[in-house]
Amino acid sequence: MKEQGQLEASRQLEIIEQCKKRIQQISEEAGRTLTYHISTFGCQMNFKDSEKLAGILEQLGYQEVDSEQADFVLLNTCTVRENANLKVYGHLGMLKSYKKKNPHMIIALCGCMMQEELVVAKLKESYRFVDIIFGTHNIYKLAELIQTRLESDRMVVDLWKDAKEIVEDLPSVRKYSFKAGVNIMFGCNNFCSYCIVPYVRGRERSREPEDIIHEIEQMVSEGVVEVMLLGQNVNSYGKTLEQPISFAELLQKVEQIEGLKRIRFMTSHPKDLSDDLIAVMKNSKKICKHMHLPVQSGSTRLLEKMNRRYTKEHYLALVDKLKTAIPDISLTTDIIVGFPGETEEDFLETIDVVRKAEYDSAYTFIYSKRTGTPAAAMEEQVPEEVVKERFQRLLDVVAESSAKRTGRLEGETAEVLVEGVSEQDASMVTGRLSNNLLVHFPGTEELVGSLVMVKLEESKGFYYIGAKV
Ligand code: SAH
Ligand code: SF4
Ligand code: F3S
Repeated sequence: MKEQGQLEASRQLEIIEQCKKRIQQISEEAGRTLTYHISTFGCQMNFKDSEKLAGILEQLGYQEVDSEQADFVLLNTCTVRENANLKVYGHLGMLKSYKKKNPHMIIALCGCMMQEELVVAKLKESYRFVDIIFGTHNIYKLAELIQTRLESDRMVVDLWKDAKEIVEDLPSVRKYSFKAGVNIMFGCNNFCSYCIVPYVRGRERSREPEDIIHEIEQMVSEGVVEVMLLGQNVNSYGKTLEQPISFAELLQKVEQIEGLKRIRFMTSHPKDLSDDLIAVMKNSKKICKHMHLPVQSGSTRLLEKMNRRYTKEHYLALVDKLKTAIPDISLTTDIIVGFPGETEEDFLETIDVVRKAEYDSAYTFIYSKRTGTPAAAMEEQVPEEVVKERFQRLLDVVAESSAKRTGRLEGETAEVLVEGVSEQDASMVTGRLSNNLLVHFPGTEELVGSLVMVKLEESKGFYYIGAKV
């Protein structure tokens, strides 16, 4: 498998070289550098994929611009909820008009939405101006797909049902010089009954620990101090490798990388969160004091219908364990309101969990029916007015809970990773605490990318105002 991945990577590097010459020719004919723009929807996985896609486009000689009026426009799509899906059609309407004015324009679509047959059928039928369509399993082939498009005059469609080998070491660009996302696994095997991700991202596959460590070491040598380890369910990392390794063990290896200062990870599934992981977090100097632990619902009855494989009590016991071991940990979550069959009692169980877990913040979603998932076929879809009313009540309780939590560090001094000059005030910089909250304090651009000690003078709810000490 590994050899195949390497072979494929060198094949793609050759194609990049050939394709680059062709792009150069076109650029000379046009009398200007060709430009690209990627619009990314959805989660961190998609943003990470977009960095890889940008890496290939830059190797090919395209230059990034800030608008979709570019020579190469790529929409990296999400389909986790219907809203995400609808947005893409909005963008396509605009792109059609841009393309009329620019004969060099290539429009490409990729990402989770493209893994749905109905979507692709609709695009082929009514969106003929789209040039390239590919999915989540073959993003490393971008140069090859562009080459094919330039050689023919037809829509190029390349979709795989599942992934083949993991292709490592292709070019990539990073949005930030000091922090980076790192894929540790792809896909998902959990099949929560509402969720489309396992269908569009394929089965769970972990990367080899050596490849992960090597990639992070390389990033650190280029100035990265914080990494975010990415997977749909990082707690089941490594189980399917030839030489199995646990996520807790991987974290211990990452911890040893010299020069790396902070480690984050996303997302943890409660059913696989181990005591070992809690112990490793407790003893670590680098793992951030933040856990994103999606609960989805507080009702054991609904959790079972959701196929989450834990109960309300199990979840709350985990929260207790985490808070006992790591008292200053910040806890965040995802919650779905209006899952089929949700009763007022079920909903009150969710409210109860929010009160008991005392989240720092929660991402709340209205249930969205996704074709092909088991929940879409469930009867008793909850009426829209009921869902909206519950959603508002949930927001109020979440706000109460975060108000209690977020101010708790006021007056303390804590380490902040400076991320940039403040957008509102050029005399201030903005950075993040270990627990992921933002801090604004007086400072200049030179501080960006460094860790500084800041006194947190005033809590403003979701951020602090501070001063460097
Ligand atoms: N793998 C992650 C979540 C990925 S999707 C996990 O298991 O935690 C991010 C969030 O979107 C989920 O946690 C869930 O709250 C929400 N979500 C997924 N499918 C949804 C749907 N059909 N309707 C509404 N929200 C959904
Ligand atoms: Fe979706 Fe569940 Fe997998 Fe998360 S764990 S991606 S919610 S199926
Ligand atoms: Fe969306 Fe795909 Fe992520 S469906 S949430 S972009 S895995």
